[in-house]
Amino acid sequence: MSLYNKAKSLMPGGVNSPVRAFGSVKREPIFIHSAKGPYVYDVDGKQYIDFITSWGPMILGHGREDLIEKAKVYLEEGLTFGLPSDIEVEMAELVTSATDTDLVRMVNSGTEATMSAIRLARGYTGKKKIIKFEGCYHGHSDSLLVKSGSGTLTFNTPTSAGVPEDTIKHTIVCRYNDIDDVKKAIESNKDDIACVIIEPIAGNMGVVPGNYKFMQELREITSENGIVLIFDEVITGFRVKYGSIAPLFDIVPDLYCFGKIIGGGLPVGAFAGPEKIMRHLSPDGDVYQAGTLSGNPLAMKMGRDVLNILREDKEIYERLEEKAIKLENGFNENLKSTGVSGKVVRYKSMLCLFFGEFDEIKSYDDIKNANTEMYSEYFSFMLDRGIVLPPAQFEAIFISDAQTDEILDYTIEQNRLALEHITKNA
Ligand SMILES: Cc1ncc(COP(=O)(O)O)c(C=O)c1O
Repeated sequence: MSLYNKAKSLMPGGVNSPVRAFGSVKREPIFIHSAKGPYVYDVDGKQYIDFITSWGPMILGHGREDLIEKAKVYLEEGLTFGLPSDIEVEMAELVTSATDTDLVRMVNSGTEATMSAIRLARGYTGKKKIIKFEGCYHGHSDSLLVKSGSGTLTFNTPTSAGVPEDTIKHTIVCRYNDIDDVKKAIESNKDDIACVIIEPIAGNMGVVPGNYKFMQELREITSENGIVLIFDEVITGFRVKYGSIAPLFDIVPDLYCFGKIIGGGLPVGAFAGPEKIMRHLSPDGDVYQAGTLSGNPLAMKMGRDVLNILREDKEIYERLEEKAIKLENGFNENLKSTGVSGKVVRYKSMLCLFFGEFDEIKSYDDIKNANTEMYSEYFSFMLDRGIVLPPAQFEAIFISDAQTDEILDYTIEQNRLALEHITKNA
């Protein structure tokens, strides 16, 4: 029996997270055994250039020798204590000083971070309703599985079975980058909205950057109405720059959610904010939240070391962006020379090649008709040539520092051949 068949006999879809099943690109998934630098290796030892980078966390690439040496020491020091530890304090200081926040709570995933931040916003304001944006994904907690992006978008199931209507009735879905839509939602639910949660750069409908003016107005309108503004920076945090992206919009949200990079590749999430809100959290306040492995020492130490590298390397963010620009330019030239219709959207070190005809890309409406068939063909062609891209059109490529010029050149060349192949088959 193949490993995939065995996996399917033991796990739904053979995977532990739906997108890994490669369903939307109509391929059998590859099973990875190990990773090093810019590469992942499947169970047969086949090498692939990795443009998923574990959906963002592996910003430095896989298995850096300095980090491996440190990890060995951390293993000796103990895996989990269930008691307060010094590294949690150090990590809290790192995260709060890198962002405009006073207090932070560590959790084990991005889902937990957003779910808990929403509970805190509700507890703090005493209000029930929440606003989210179509195409943004904030993890899989019940109240957020409403027309959400990422896996659910790709599988074309706008809501999940098992989510009670009663839970969802408090969630309002607005159009991304559309302030009038938010104004209308607030007007018709006056005094009942606890929070607005948003990905400041949406990375779960491909890449769709939040607009500067929109973010400014969103901050203004939420402040005026006593609504907690939550920046879900599970992707953007420490990726687009060190800390939060908020300063690039010249605003300060109320709560921030982090994950991915801050765990250095281990399971982590965090939410942070000012004293006046965060003190409502248990045990200081009456909003309950807890976790057996929260602030896990291994995750905290690896996260701390990655954050320190990102902070101390003054050129790293520029370097990451340059790599992304190189891909963007290469892909654009290839689109032009082959005549394939598509558009590359890039923000710093995140990018997406959308297939199809597009004008301006501002919201989910603008990309929902992207040509997923073409993307599947493209994905397969690249995979066969040793390049693993996100296995879905509506996901982002995440650049890592381990990706060399040579790798990027090879990828651009294969991209050209893939586009030529697509035109021949059209
Ligand atoms: C913006 C955003 N928020 C939250 C999450 C959920 O994080 P996790 O998968 O760690 O639960 C994700 C996952 O990709 C995400 O992209």
